Amino acid sequence: MNLFTCAVFLLFSTTAALCQDNSSAPSPQRSSDPRIRGEQAFTENGCPQCHTVHQHGGTKGPDLSDAGHRLSDDQIRTQILKGGKQMPAFGQILKSSETDDLVAYVHSLREDEKTTKKQ
Ligand code: HEC
Repeated sequence: MNLFTCAVFLLFSTTAALCQDNSSAPSPQRSSDPRIRGEQAFTENGCPQCHTVHQHGGTKGPDLSDAGHRLSDDQIRTQILKGGKQMPAFGQILKSSETDDLVAYVHSLREDEKTTKKQ
């Protein structure tokens, strides 16, 4: 396809994506990458109040910067849904798709990816 067709196509798909998102999601532009959606859900649900990721966040809970190394997906999921001794349970709050995204995000956190992390 030539440059013009390409530009029109891009413009159209962006507009379509924006329109869809406005109807349901509270925050604009849901990414197609579950890790990015998970990062948004992490912030939206107040996880950083207690958890540090790559030097940002609270210290009430453990630093999650390397949680992807230490925990299995099942452990991450159970922790999020059921909470812990000092962590609230999020099972009633999150949509199951949000839980999936959060697990993907926490899973992606590994100390050795700190320097390569995309902005
Ligand atoms: C009120 C503070 C608080 C909030 C908010 C909170 N957590 Fe936690 N979290 C903790 C504490 C404290 C622990 C460790 C001990 C426990 O289970 O209570 C923990 C443990 C974890 C663990 C296991 C970490 C490990 O190293 O074993 C994960 C994963 C986790 N939290 C994810 C999340 C996610 C995702 C959110 C947001 C949906 C969240 N937490 C919100 C306090 C919190």
